[in-house]
Amino acid sequence: MNVKEIPLEKLNAEQYIADQVKSLKQTVGSGLAVNALSGGVDSSVVTMIGHRALGARLKTFFIANGIMREGEPEYIVKVFKKLNVKVELVHAENEFFAALKGLTDPEEKREAITQTFYKKVFGRLVKESGAKYLLQGTNWTDVEETVAGVKRQHNILAQLGIDTQAVFGYKVLEPVLQLRKTGIRMVGKALGLPEEIYARPPFPGPALAARVIGEVTRERVEVVRKATTIVEQELKGSGAFQYLAILHNDKVTGMRNGKRDFGQQIEVRCWESKDAITATVTRLPFEKLEKLAQRITTEVPGVVSVTYNVTAKPPSTIEAI
Ligand code: XMP
Repeated sequence: MNVKEIPLEKLNAEQYIADQVKSLKQTVGSGLAVNALSGGVDSSVVTMIGHRALGARLKTFFIANGIMREGEPEYIVKVFKKLNVKVELVHAENEFFAALKGLTDPEEKREAITQTFYKKVFGRLVKESGAKYLLQGTNWTDVEETVAGVKRQHNILAQLGIDTQAVFGYKVLEPVLQLRKTGIRMVGKALGLPEEIYARPPFPGPALAARVIGEVTRERVEVVRKATTIVEQELKGSGAFQYLAILHNDKVTGMRNGKRDFGQQIEVRCWESKDAITATVTRLPFEKLEKLAQRITTEVPGVVSVTYNVTAKPPSTIEAI
């Protein structure tokens, strides 16, 4: 790889934006490009850089894959409308759940999401739109983790030797590749993104599927989605790097109304980190942990047990799969 990381102390956000805008203009020329906006910091920054460079020649899609957080598609479309960026919502829920059916192995689940996203959904959108390029928010940490063999991050392609032109029919451009999360947030701020977007905790490309241990079904995603809403509401002001809910595969015996209730388990994780490469547990007040357990077991049907992960990364990772 001949590109290099730009460390934080060397980053000049305005200059970075100008360089990326220039480079996109040169590469795409008078052609068309598409990009997928997930609402995360990285794809939001790429969307803004892309529109600055290409204007209406960039078409931005939000892929509703069925594994996003509660109300996320509508929220993101609304935020970007205020920024004068039109986002087209594409419903692909059935395709993603069909691809995930029966899969329990983490890497197989990640691969199924990658193939559905790049080959099926974007293969089709690119063909229909006549675009030759896909812009995406791969960052330096994603590359490092995948190349090191920790996890196959959903968006790593060229760095693994995948010729996207040959396999998917388009070229992938990565305007934030040289940056890590803190740098991308700085660029987001300089681009005029609202703080609610550039300061958002990271969220993984494979979305809630990265937080469902075992098979990813509509019903199981619904459980983790409800728990996620509670965790995000409760930990929003914690100042932590990232916080999440995970659905375990094993059931445990609980009790409700004095009777046995063989139910599901949710694991809460809350991380302190700078770059997601290493992380430690947030020492949340015990009252907060109890409140989380109490709310999750009363508001999420079928959940009888809530645990808090106190492991550091490594050996844990931030997401569960
Ligand atoms: P892990 O779980 O490997 O996560 O400790 C490190 C950081 O990356 C996020 N993450 C992903 N981001 N595509 C992404 O764009 C992915 O496939 C992916 N998997 C994990 C995770 O949320 C954390 O911030």
